[in-house]
Amino acid sequence: MEKDIQEVLLTEAQIRERIRQLGEVLTEEYADKNPVIVGVMKGVVIFYADMIRHIKVPCQMDFMWISSYEGTNSTGSMIVKRDVSADIKGRHVVILEDIFDTGNSLQFVYNHLMEKEPASLEICTLLDKPSRRNPAVTLKPKYVGFQVPNAFVVGYGLDYNEYYRNMPYIGVLRPEVYEK
Ligand code: IMP
Ligand code: MG
Repeated sequence: MEKDIQEVLLTEAQIRERIRQLGEVLTEEYADKNPVIVGVMKGVVIFYADMIRHIKVPCQMDFMWISSYEGTNSTGSMIVKRDVSADIKGRHVVILEDIFDTGNSLQFVYNHLMEKEPASLEICTLLDKPSRRNPAVTLKPKYVGFQVPNAFVVGYGLDYNEYYRNMPYIGVLRPEVYEK
């Protein structure tokens, strides 16, 4: 795997420290709110597992699975493959996501969950790639781990064709890998 990585963008230590900081913020803001933490599969799983242990308030874990992305290009159309199982009406909900890129996926998830009338709905994304944002997406994640440059990144849950998710750090994939 390492040979396909052009540059390490975020080390394990950097990710760990940022998650600890985000955890402190969420712990403070969600004290006594009994939140539901919704992870968007599958890219979020590694971040989710680390993040949830730093949210030190009573909370419930839930997951959504949407489908939208093939290789490095968004297909534009999205479907809910698996919906949340909790009844989130009147609940404080935080969406955890791996990356906010064009913003299309999170906008879709956000709209979908808003229909269920939560008491509040916020987004916590590990990565934000502002350069590629769809201008039609007005959504802004309240909690962001890191801003990343306009490059295709993998590792720590993020994939290319379902590979590299198990790399413990985040790196830029060599363009030759997806151009061949
Ligand atoms: P968006 O809808 O364009 O914001 O993209 C969201 C989804 O695309 C993310 O949840 C990722 O699964 C995938 N994605 C976007 N950029 C990258 C990247 O640089 N590496 C890996 N996956 C990405
Ligand atoms: Mg993906």
